[in-house]
Amino acid sequence: MRWPFGRSTARREPATHTPSDRPERPVPAGQRGQAPAADPVPSSVARTLGLDVGYGLVKVCDGGRVLSFPSVVSDAATRRYRAEFAPADGEGQVGQLTVNGKDILVGESAIRHGVLNRRSLAPDRVTGSHFRLLALAAIAPYAQWERQTFSVVTGLPVAMFDAYRCEVEKNLAGEYRLTVKDGGRVRDRLVSLARPTVVPQPLGTFYHESLNSIGNLERRDWQEKSVGVVDVGFRTTDLVVVDRLEVVDRLSATLAFGVHDIYRLLAGRIRQEFGLTKDDLELQLWFDRDEVRVAGRRHDIRGFKREFVPWAVQKVRAEVDSLWDRGDLDEILITGGGASLVGDGLRAAYRNARVVNQPVFANVLGFARLAARLARGVGAGRAWEGRTAG
Ligand SMILES: Nc1ncnc2c1ncn2[C@@H]1O[C@H](COP(=O)(O)OP(=O)(O)OP(=O)(O)O)[C@@H](O)[C@H]1O
Ligand SMILES: [Mg+2]
Repeated sequence: MRWPFGRSTARREPATHTPSDRPERPVPAGQRGQAPAADPVPSSVARTLGLDVGYGLVKVCDGGRVLSFPSVVSDAATRRYRAEFAPADGEGQVGQLTVNGKDILVGESAIRHGVLNRRSLAPDRVTGSHFRLLALAAIAPYAQWERQTFSVVTGLPVAMFDAYRCEVEKNLAGEYRLTVKDGGRVRDRLVSLARPTVVPQPLGTFYHESLNSIGNLERRDWQEKSVGVVDVGFRTTDLVVVDRLEVVDRLSATLAFGVHDIYRLLAGRIRQEFGLTKDDLELQLWFDRDEVRVAGRRHDIRGFKREFVPWAVQKVRAEVDSLWDRGDLDEILITGGGASLVGDGLRAAYRNARVVNQPVFANVLGFARLAARLARGVGAGRAWEGRTAG
C-alpha cells in the first residue's frame, strides 16, 4: 500500500545520466555541468514546479503562476519569420524554443505553423522525446537564471503508473541547454532537472484540495474519510480512492475515454453541417472557443457539444458504478478538463460529488503543493517508490 503522506524524507540527487533516445544534440561535454560566466545564482538552489504533461494540455505551476498549452510539438523550420506586429505566443509561455540545438514549435504555435506537428496519444509517449520536449517547453519560462535547477513533481494515469514511472524519471532527468526568443531578446539557459517525483495523476487534485500552499495537510478530517477522485481528461478518465490518506489500488483505474472522444463526435457533426473536415488539433482550438469559422462567419457549436454530454456522463457513470460502491465514499471530487462537460450530470447522480475549483489545473496545482512539501523535507512521495528507477 502506498501512503500519500509517508514519513520518509530521502533527498533527490540531481541526475548524472543522459536519457537514452534523445534526438536533440547533446550539450557539448565540456559545457555539461558548467555554469555560464555570468551565473548570478548557485546551481544548487532548486526551483520547485508541478508539471502535468497531459494528452491534451501541458500544465505547469510554480505555486503561483500556472501556464498551459496544447500538447503538440513540431519542427520549427516552418516559422522562419515573424511579423513585428504579430501577437506574442501567449501570456508568459513559449511558442518556439531550441533544446540542445534542436528548434521546435510547441502548443498553439505548433498547431498553426507546424507542418509536421504531432500530438502523441500512445501510452509509451512518456518514454520518448515528444514528452520530454513538451516538459522542457513548459519549464523554460520558469528558468529565471542562466543556470537553473528544478525539482519537479509530475503525474501519470493510474493504469500506467507502475509500468512507466521509472521511464518518466529517466526520460526527464538531465541537463539541457534551452534558448528562448522572447520578443527581441534571446535567453540562453542551462536547465538541470533532478529525477522528478511521479505520482498517479488524480492525486494532484487530492493534494490541491487537502494541502495548503506550503504543503501542510489542511483537511485533517480526511484522515478519517474516504475520498474518490474522478479525473476526466483529454484521452483518459482516471479514478482513484484515497481512504484515510491511503490510496486503494483495487478501487483505482484508468478508462480509455476523454474529451477527445467528444471531439471525434463533434468532427462528424461539423462535417455534416458545414462540409468541413478538420483535424483533431484544430478541433481543440475550436472546441475551447465554442465556435467554428466558415468563410468568415462564426458558428456557435455549444449546441453540438451539449448533444454529446449525456452520452459522456453515461460512459463515466458506468465505470464509476462498476468500480465503486459510492455509499462507501464520503466525498467524490470531479476534476480535469472534462469536468465542465460531465460535472453537472455526475453531481445529479452522486449527491456526495462536487466539481473542484479550477478543474483543468487542479492536478498541477496539487503537484506544485506536493513539490513545496518535499522541498521542505517533510516527506511524502517517497512512498510512491515501490520500485526505484534503474
Ligand atoms: N471549460 C471547458 N469546457 C469544455 N472542455 C474543456 C473546458 N476546459 C478544458 N476543456 C477541454 O479539456 C481538455 C483538457 O483537459 P485536461 O487538461 O484535463 O486533459 P489532459 O490532462 O491533457 O488529458 P489526460 O488526463 O487524458 O492526459 C482540453 O482539450 C479542452 O478541450
Ligand atoms: Mg489529465
